[in-house]
Amino acid sequence: MNKEELLKEYKNVYGEDAKDVFFSPGRINVIGEHTDYNGGHVFPAAISLGVYGVYGPREDNKVRLYSGNVDGDIVEFDLDDSSVEKDDRFWTNYFKGMLTYLKERADGDKINHGFNLYIKATLPSGSGLSSSAAIEMLMGIILKDEFNLDVDRVTLAKLGQKTENEFVGLNSGIMDQFACIMGKKDNAIFLDTNTMEYEYKPLKLGEYEIIIMSTNKEHTLADSAYNDRVRECHDALTKLQTKLNIKALGELDEESFDEYSYLINDETEIRRARHAVFENQRTLHATKAMEDADLEKLGRLINASHVSLHYDYEVTGKELDTLAEAAWKQDGVLGARMIGGGFGGSAIAIVKKDKAEEFKKNVGKIYRNKIGYDASFYDAEIVDGTKRI
Ligand code: GLA
Repeated sequence: MNKEELLKEYKNVYGEDAKDVFFSPGRINVIGEHTDYNGGHVFPAAISLGVYGVYGPREDNKVRLYSGNVDGDIVEFDLDDSSVEKDDRFWTNYFKGMLTYLKERADGDKINHGFNLYIKATLPSGSGLSSSAAIEMLMGIILKDEFNLDVDRVTLAKLGQKTENEFVGLNSGIMDQFACIMGKKDNAIFLDTNTMEYEYKPLKLGEYEIIIMSTNKEHTLADSAYNDRVRECHDALTKLQTKLNIKALGELDEESFDEYSYLINDETEIRRARHAVFENQRTLHATKAMEDADLEKLGRLINASHVSLHYDYEVTGKELDTLAEAAWKQDGVLGARMIGGGFGGSAIAIVKKDKAEEFKKNVGKIYRNKIGYDASFYDAEIVDGTKRI
């Protein structure tokens, strides 16, 4: 999207000139899925698809939001209104949560007037590429910049997670917000969610590139299933803790999990916990494989991640399985898997650059024949985190 166009669209809606324009990216995740609320590792990166926010200050205490993606009205609420919104105003919770938590902080009274926001997403909502985290981090950086707040980026990521957990009711981990706001061009972020230590790693894929494959199926019902997975892992952990001195499943390796899995004594919980433990270990092996330039191994680990998300974690579904399985069969493909929460949303594939067009054509055809509508394909461009543009 071009900045002039966004400024013009703001003016059309609000009848005056805007002050600043911001961009907040979505994210992909190379590997490490459903590990972030289990004290494991993740390996995400910010992408050029995201959400733009055009900001203009107001003299009164009103916050006005307008989304350029839906043909709706301006939504308005008071700066001090921290109530959770329902139904067709639900999307405003991502803004309201961040605003509420930033106002509660020590220098929160610096937020002393209202504002207008014009929002435009290039990231389809429900695409599994973190449009909600992109919005939260957009609000966070806008408030930090415009009101000169003394808050660092990692804290903003944590407030985004709190917004999800307490405003939206999704018991998600920190990965999405962290990836959106901490992103670095051409790098993925190797984050240990147990310690919050992180390291940027250049995505060295040589003659390969990452292709994003969207199922174009929104992940409906995903939230309740997501919260079920969080609970099942927590229950498995509690049983393991009767004999093991651990705080999170991410502390276990494959062998120690195997030895103690008898304590769990529940088929579903064993499978969920096994995914969390093995996926975390796969993430460690995968980052090492990339460093060693062993891309074939990286690809196999990515495939294994999908298999585990399918059979042990049961969060894939027919659309994501169709994409991954079709991708595995194509020439020049190192690996493919679903990303994000699952049940729809998107997958990624690591594909030889000169095979990319053929890949999209073939996988697109298989998907359309089996599912009945089109998938979308995007070349993943890895960019910096949320910022003013
Ligand atoms: C969603 C959540 C993240 C993470 C992924 C699965 O995107 O918001 O915190 O748990 O699912 O890895």
